[in-house]
Amino acid sequence: MDTPLRILVTGANGQLGRSLQALAAPLAGRIHYAFTDRDSLDITSDAAIGRWLDAHPADCLVNAAAYTAVDRAADELDTALAINAQAPALLARHCARRGMRLLHVSTDYVFDGTLDRPYRADDPTRPLNTYGRSKRQGEEAVLQAAPDALVVRTSWVFSAWGDNFVRTMLRLGQQRDHLRVIDDQVGGPTWAGHLAQALHQLAQRLHTPGLHTPGGLYHFSGTPDVSWHGFAREIFTQAVARGMLARAPALAPIPASDWPSPEPRPANSRLDCDKLEALLGPLERDWRIGLGRVLDAWRDDAPPRTETLR
Ligand SMILES: NC(=O)c1ccc[n+]([C@@H]2O[C@H](COP(=O)([O-])OP(=O)(O)OC[C@H]3O[C@@H](n4cnc5c(N)ncnc54)[C@H](OP(=O)(O)O)[C@@H]3O)[C@@H](O)[C@H]2O)c1
Repeated sequence: MDTPLRILVTGANGQLGRSLQALAAPLAGRIHYAFTDRDSLDITSDAAIGRWLDAHPADCLVNAAAYTAVDRAADELDTALAINAQAPALLARHCARRGMRLLHVSTDYVFDGTLDRPYRADDPTRPLNTYGRSKRQGEEAVLQAAPDALVVRTSWVFSAWGDNFVRTMLRLGQQRDHLRVIDDQVGGPTWAGHLAQALHQLAQRLHTPGLHTPGGLYHFSGTPDVSWHGFAREIFTQAVARGMLARAPALAPIPASDWPSPEPRPANSRLDCDKLEALLGPLERDWRIGLGRVLDAWRDDAPPRTETLR
């Protein structure tokens, strides 16, 4: 009989962590997921990681924990580096020692956004902001300590949990008739439920005898690419269609230069996901479907549905 796949997840209370929990619930008994949050495992503690991995032997570890406050990262540099750079290195070392594969998650913000096409995993990095630099250091440290680790970059993550662009737009749409939204930054909004599915499929592949899955950098983001303005327009279209808003606010497209933020963002955040799809086959990535799941969940006050997984 096949041994069931055992997957450990850090950062269980974040957008990705909660989406993995939603995906894992119906799989209980067939695939063993174990989740830990900051209280039960602080990933910056070498000793705590060792104790936790000893207590929960597994085939692979998904690191969904991160410091994600982009605009505070410069002021909280030590914390950002500890969580995004040093802790992933610790996780990678512990995984390598135990023969476990690490699935680490990174960001489009490792790129400067000057390319005129979607970024491929092997394109040169040049982060524009502190958060991006901390995540890039994490990528390098992970792959140095565990060359067979998989580092999956993603972009513009949203879900039914936590703070994200969808929640902010809905709140502002309820308060205002006019909104100004950036139109010269383009990327792939990513439903955390789709990202969770892709990571789950990767973990299953790692556990499948006879299949070689090279370590290294991969990209996973939602499709189609869109500006923040276009993303906002679709949010309001879907919210109005569900009766969650009486009418959409007027949306004025503005350049990022009209919306100064403490930390710069790349103009082009588009990620080329061909490398991951060559490995796993076509993946569900349409963010408009994910957006619908999130809005349905908020309207019905229920966790969003995920696809049925084997
Ligand atoms: N959000 C985005 O738009 C975006 C875009 C590109 C890439 N990413 C990447 O995608 C991944 C998932 O992001 P997300 O949006 O799910 O992040 P998130 O919602 O901010 O969740 C991160 C989780 O990490 C936990 N955490 C922070 N420090 C920790 C520590 N020392 N030990 C254990 N847990 C700790 C947080 O715990 P608390 O709840 O206690 O704070 C939080 O639950 C991250 O690697 C992120 O860099 C995100």
